[in-house]
Amino acid sequence: MDASSKRVSALRFQSMKRRGEPIAMITAYDYAQAKLVDAAGIPAILVGDSLGNVSLGYDSTIPVTLDDMCRATAAVARGAQNALVIADMPFMTYHTDLPTAMRNAARLIQEGGAQCVKLEGGSAVKDTIRALVAAGIPVMGHVGFTPQSLYRLGGYRVQGRGNNAERVLRDAIVVQGAGAFSVVLEMIPSQLAKTITEELEIPTIGIGAGPHCDGQVQVFHDLLGMDPDFSPKHAGKYANIASIIIDAVSGYAKDVKSGNFPTSDHSH
Ligand code: KIV
Repeated sequence: MDASSKRVSALRFQSMKRRGEPIAMITAYDYAQAKLVDAAGIPAILVGDSLGNVSLGYDSTIPVTLDDMCRATAAVARGAQNALVIADMPFMTYHTDLPTAMRNAARLIQEGGAQCVKLEGGSAVKDTIRALVAAGIPVMGHVGFTPQSLYRLGGYRVQGRGNNAERVLRDAIVVQGAGAFSVVLEMIPSQLAKTITEELEIPTIGIGAGPHCDGQVQVFHDLLGMDPDFSPKHAGKYANIASIIIDAVSGYAKDVKSGNFPTSDHSH
């Protein structure tokens, strides 16, 4: 499908680091979002399991299923002609045994149309990363705050402070050693992210990890101000779409009520 297309590849991602070209990534969860993000020239789209929070209304990513991810990934892949599409492997779909992890990753690639998968963790997932890469699937790692371990980590907390910095650095090195083409650093101190970025050959993609990463990833809904009640500290807010939507929908409702919509222009 992609052999002759202009789609960004995982290899290109790595050459962007070598050239010092910062990588802007964003999440998307459906066809319409992917089409817009792709038109904006974003090189990589993450179909994040943050889908659970922002689209499905769960309070964590833990209830998200592989079916949820396959459906969302397929919709995004239909909308994105140029961007690299990376799909999150959801909670417990890569932890039990290697054959299960391989089958589940294969679904995201074959049914979902993703070019890569992302999974969370360091040493605990190194064999899984190695096996997926050996099978031809580019893997993005994810260390620092790993939302699927929310219960173990005791909440949405910055990781890698004090003595824990060494552990996060080690996790990133292990993920690279296992063959990942890139790694997300989530919610860690900027200085630690800088050290990891300098230490690794693969690109680091930060969220809540400061300005020294090779790239940044943001959640679509946070970046666009889709939820008036939620805006995490690390979110860049580049629009206030919530108020635009509320104004437009209330204007429409008012016009229906007053008989100003539809007009003859909207009628057959
Ligand atoms: O699911 C997601 O959106 C993510 C990002 C926070 C990196 O994993």
